[in-house]
Amino acid sequence: MSTRTPLIAGNWKMHGSLKDSEALVSALCAGVVGSEGPQMLLCPSYIYIQAVGKWLHGSAIQLGAQNLAEPTGPGAFTGEVSGTMLRDFGCEYVIVGHSERRALYGETNELVAAKFVTAQSQGLTPILCVGETLEEREADRTQTIVQQQVEAVLESVEVEALSNAVVAYEPVWAIGTGRTATPDQAQEVHALIRAMIGSRDVTIAAGLRILYGGSVKGANAKELFAMEDIDGGLVGGASLDAQEFLTIFQAA
Ligand code: PGA
Repeated sequence: MSTRTPLIAGNWKMHGSLKDSEALVSALCAGVVGSEGPQMLLCPSYIYIQAVGKWLHGSAIQLGAQNLAEPTGPGAFTGEVSGTMLRDFGCEYVIVGHSERRALYGETNELVAAKFVTAQSQGLTPILCVGETLEEREADRTQTIVQQQVEAVLESVEVEALSNAVVAYEPVWAIGTGRTATPDQAQEVHALIRAMIGSRDVTIAAGLRILYGGSVKGANAKELFAMEDIDGGLVGGASLDAQEFLTIFQAA
């Protein structure tokens, strides 16, 4: 790991209850003291953001969302939540283009790029998720897919926009499957992403945090985070268990 401040983000997805969330946040707050070292970020579902924000008050843990509406709004977009609303409740980050959004809700590279732009225009730091499916990996298309996903965003913004963004490499075959990419497999893609940005601006590339996601656990976090271009993790399942998530945090 480099001089980039590691970020350990918990993506709670559609999990938990108000009661579970309170216990989880309280255990995490007790485990994260001081603002030195890695940063922790929690991304609860929309409905819990306000409560989690209150519980986090005064702690060093940051708050984010899992998605946002693409239109800047306000407007007639039933069921959608804008970045401005998220900011109102203390969110600083928002995940865009998670593979579940891409696969289950039809989010295309173009829509993800548009959400990236909207997020930044509303004062949120986007966490852009990219990653290939198993089929794509086996067909030796990992590089192409990841390049297309990153390129779609670079077509919509100047490279400078990446100085206020995070990228998460999440191979789809590793998400929620218990099958983690090896540190070398992950490093290879992280280096590719950094090189893509670096071909436009070396300084921005050097400062960009690239997280790894896909079955990160206490037991494998250290070896992943030891890789040169891995600057932390986007953690699903293991972020729902305070002890496990704190172990991952400490590994950074
Ligand atoms: P996982 O999920 O840690 O449960 O594999 C990661 C993610 O989807 O962000």
